[in-house]
Amino acid sequence: MTITVVLGHPYPRSFNHAIAKHVVEALQTAGHAVAFHDLYAEGFDPLLTGHELATDDVRTNALAEQHCRELQLADGIVVIHPNWWGMPPAIVKGWIDRVFRPGVAYQFAGDDDGSGVPAGLLRARAAVVLTTSNTPAEREQDIFGDPLETIWRNCVFGFCGVALVVRRNFGVIAGSSRQQREQWLAEAAATALRVLGQAR
Ligand SMILES: Cc1cc2nc3c(=O)[nH]c(=O)nc-3n(C[C@H](O)[C@H](O)[C@H](O)COP(=O)(O)O)c2cc1C
Repeated sequence: MTITVVLGHPYPRSFNHAIAKHVVEALQTAGHAVAFHDLYAEGFDPLLTGHELATDDVRTNALAEQHCRELQLADGIVVIHPNWWGMPPAIVKGWIDRVFRPGVAYQFAGDDDGSGVPAGLLRARAAVVLTTSNTPAEREQDIFGDPLETIWRNCVFGFCGVALVVRRNFGVIAGSSRQQREQWLAEAAATALRVLGQAR
């Protein structure tokens, strides 16, 4: 399978980078063709321009255009990022804005002014979202409503037609032991392999 893996974290020694490394290695070892993008390292520009908004034309930015192409071709997608204020980091939000474009990820019917329900265009049958946070799970659910779950499951991948969306949040990261982190890394890789394997 062709799998796109996207990482949104600025610090190379972060736990998020460790997750990405484990996941990419596991997928490659299993024989998948992996397109890995560390958005900060490659200098992805997250700002959707007025030109793109008005024309749906991303050809003025070669990297954004490459991401669009890869997203269209991917059989599976993995996204890895920390919880920042209940949201993905801005660079990941901008990746969604610029890459999950009309005609790439979804399309409204010809007579729809954009207020209806679009058809999802992504060929990927499965997406895995791996997030990290410092808020205990019960407080995240009760006080904040776990917005990342809704964002990825409903607003992004559900909207674009991806049938199977599995999100796993790892935490609390602060103060976690080495042993716990190694267990989480193994679980991250196993989750990606299992879920994307189901999408064949
Ligand atoms: C700008 C910023 C905002 C954050 N907001 C949240 C938050 O809303 N909820 C939460 O649980 N943790 C929050 N955190 C903590 C991060 O989620 C945590 O540091 C990260 O998941 C740890 O993984 P890392 O070592 O890979 O950075 C925030 C951290 C930063 C830097």
